[in-house]
Amino acid sequence: MVKVLFVCLGNICRSPTAEGVFRKLIEEHGLAEKIVVDSAGTGGWHVGEPPDGRAVKAAKRRGVDLSQIRARQATRGDFRRFDLIVAMDADNHATLARLCPKGEEHRLHLFLDFAAGLEGRDVPDPFYGGGDGFEAVLDMIERAAEGLLAHIRDKHL
Ligand code: 4NP
Repeated sequence: MVKVLFVCLGNICRSPTAEGVFRKLIEEHGLAEKIVVDSAGTGGWHVGEPPDGRAVKAAKRRGVDLSQIRARQATRGDFRRFDLIVAMDADNHATLARLCPKGEEHRLHLFLDFAAGLEGRDVPDPFYGGGDGFEAVLDMIERAAEGLLAHIRDKHL
């Protein structure tokens, strides 16, 4: 079993979207029994809440259901439970690097490093922007999800 945790700041926009998109992708590839997917936020303001309504609507238009997801905060223990901890941007990557127990750094990744042509870039925070921010986020996430699955097939399955 390979375990993947997507992490953003609030766990109500980007990382639940990544969780939903990636879960759909692995189901389409018949890998739902082999890969576990979850998401969390480095911040705790939205713990227990469902994803942002704009994220839910945008994902639904692409056949991705986020309605069952509830926000939680990332913990140090996540570095023992998950094989891959995938940060949505450099700020959250840095926060996670500080949380990470010594020797577990290899688990931490930047999501867009898996997206051909977008390596090193951030998935931008759509929280304070307009609705089209959520579409741009979905485009990036769909691209990186394909690359992440290829990486997992290559290194973890
Ligand atoms: P996310 O977006 O990190 O993609 O879930 C945000 C949601 C809420 C806040 C920040 C970012 N916030 O500050 O409340």
